[in-house]
Amino acid sequence: MQTPAGKISPSLMCADLLNLKKDLDLFIANGIEYFHIDIMDGHYVRNFSLGFDFCRAIAAYTDTPQDIHLMIDNPEDFVPLFAGIQGAILTFHPETVYHPLRTIQMIRSHGARAGIALNPAQTIENLGPLLPHVDLLCVMTVVPGFVSQKIVPGGIEKLRETVDYVRSHAYDLEIEVDGNVSWQNLPEMREAGAQVFVAGTSSIFESGGDVGANIARFRSILKGEK
Ligand code: DX5
Ligand code: ZN
Repeated sequence: MQTPAGKISPSLMCADLLNLKKDLDLFIANGIEYFHIDIMDGHYVRNFSLGFDFCRAIAAYTDTPQDIHLMIDNPEDFVPLFAGIQGAILTFHPETVYHPLRTIQMIRSHGARAGIALNPAQTIENLGPLLPHVDLLCVMTVVPGFVSQKIVPGGIEKLRETVDYVRSHAYDLEIEVDGNVSWQNLPEMREAGAQVFVAGTSSIFESGGDVGANIARFRSILKGEK
């Protein structure tokens, strides 16, 4: 059986928000699998990005699932709100709650899929007990909070080790990579075994680039053509 080529999750905080509909139409026409929506509270990360009203507007426009990345403190306070976005994956950072298993159960009981994010300062062993209970693991290859960063040293190797760990336990989850998924890093991230790729400023939304051409380029790299 051929290994699926991988899913693309464009990070909409990196899009040209004044021309967003044009990009959304390109993504939808290309069968993009997810939209990555970064939510930041200025506390867990020292930045702000998109918000719930943005998610609601996107949901009113397309039923492409939203891959909502909660870089916020007290995510449980906002699960009922964001779980109202049909088909969403809600990914939180376990270090922001006392009892992450409870948060995962809460997300699922509200009808959303549950994800956890592994930040560069943690090892996958830290999160091991949570893995049987989640639908997605977001491996961060930059420190959370800002676009246009460079991958952390050893980021690809850590991704590879994380994939091997998950596969050795046969957990039923998708492994996503988030942060500096650049034209240069993408082939290695694919080889390392990532399945979902957060496409931001260093690839699909590169400044001065053509989003349509970049989608095609991204797809072809995922197929191992370049
Ligand atoms: C960073 C966010 C990423 C970011 C990706 O905290 O989680 O999703 O938008 O953007 P680039 O590709 O610029 O790293
Ligand atoms: Zn993100």
